[in-house]
Amino acid sequence: PLPPKFRARLPIPATREGTAITIVQREADLDILPGLKTRAWTYDGTFPGPTIVSRRGTETVVTHRNELPEPTVVHLHGGHTPAESDGYPIDLLLPANGQPGHQHHGDMMMGAVATGERAYRYPMGQRAATLWYHDHRMGATAPAVWRGLAGFHLVRDDEEDALPLPEGDHDVPLMITDRSFAEDGSFRYAADHVEGVLGDVVLVNGAPWPVLEVAPVRYRLRLLNASNARRYRLALDPQPPGGAAFTQVGSDGGLLAAPLTHDAIDAAPAERFDVVVDFARWRPGTTVRLVDRLAGLDVMRFDVTGARQADDSAVPAVLSRTLEPLGPPKRTRTFRFRQSTDGTWTINDEAYRPGHALANPRLGEVERWRFLTDFHHPVHLHLDPFQVLSRNGHDVARYDMGWKDTVDVRPAEAVEVAVRFTDHTGLFLLHCHNLEHEDMAMMADFRVE
Ligand code: C2O
Ligand code: CU
Repeated sequence: PLPPKFRARLPIPATREGTAITIVQREADLDILPGLKTRAWTYDGTFPGPTIVSRRGTETVVTHRNELPEPTVVHLHGGHTPAESDGYPIDLLLPANGQPGHQHHGDMMMGAVATGERAYRYPMGQRAATLWYHDHRMGATAPAVWRGLAGFHLVRDDEEDALPLPEGDHDVPLMITDRSFAEDGSFRYAADHVEGVLGDVVLVNGAPWPVLEVAPVRYRLRLLNASNARRYRLALDPQPPGGAAFTQVGSDGGLLAAPLTHDAIDAAPAERFDVVVDFARWRPGTTVRLVDRLAGLDVMRFDVTGARQADDSAVPAVLSRTLEPLGPPKRTRTFRFRQSTDGTWTINDEAYRPGHALANPRLGEVERWRFLTDFHHPVHLHLDPFQVLSRNGHDVARYDMGWKDTVDVRPAEAVEVAVRFTDHTGLFLLHCHNLEHEDMAMMADFRVE
């Protein structure tokens, strides 16, 4: 049985600011469905976990304590993070209350293993942006995120603070995930998942098809597709009279140079779109649904309430002056994402092997990376964002503007990006962010030298 639509209020995750933050990973029984409990894996007891807020240039140390029954790994997605804190998939954080002697290593390469607690150090030398953190354990990321291990991490800076964008209660993070539930309310994770697991209930910030009451003014919505495998074409219904639904101000890596308008936004797993929606364009009393036009799903609803009022927020014509093209690449590398004949998802015909780098880029050099594919794969790079240069030789699509860390590569497409790795050397990851593909080894190391 599916939960009723538009009954739950949109939850807003609690925020955590400061330079030293502790998060306890533990099981919790959540109220997602009416009259039932859902046992989840959580950061600090909630799904999504707390929203961490950092300032550019101020190191944030997040200490995670693992009270879950299994090992975990934390990755800050979009973070410009040194290798030892980046959540390498075998750098396990073992449970605090694990049985001694329970570790089975086999002949696998060993990572930096910690027991109970681990401090992840984030220098935050990066632009203001909507980041998120989630589990990243080798071969086990998809079910762990499905059970609830995901949260927002926002970076703020002076450049963005100087803009008159909507803020405070009018700056709303929206984590969109699809999930399925069993009769007893537990999360149901499909056993057969070669192409990725989809759910039949859409959760926003952990609530099924929730409602947010909005005043007839501008809101900044930080859209994050945190689904394991589902891609959405997000639109508003009804459309606002005369004009596009969304004014995009930011992308994975923060502010765009100038705003872009969209009637619909294609969001693949892990992509973020910061948009401004002016609810003054609908008559107060109107209910506006956020919908997915690919599968015909509802996502959530905005109820426009209250009288018309002054709105001192605005979207300036110039958002950022710090977005420059990366310059000519020194070399080109090609990465082919495809399913091998035995069913494994591979990159350049290799299934993931920790420590085996497919590329050795040099610190500070611009490179052109080409992604080729057989199927839909949202391709994600750790360490630094990139700029999309072309799709199938054509100019960049409107969704691909600005600094990206995930780009949706569609069947039979070739996507070229320019990237430059900076500040940190060592092993980092390149992978498909369809989490089931990732767990089925569609991941590779690159070593920055
Ligand atoms: Cu969102 Cu390698 O991760
Ligand atoms: Cu994939």
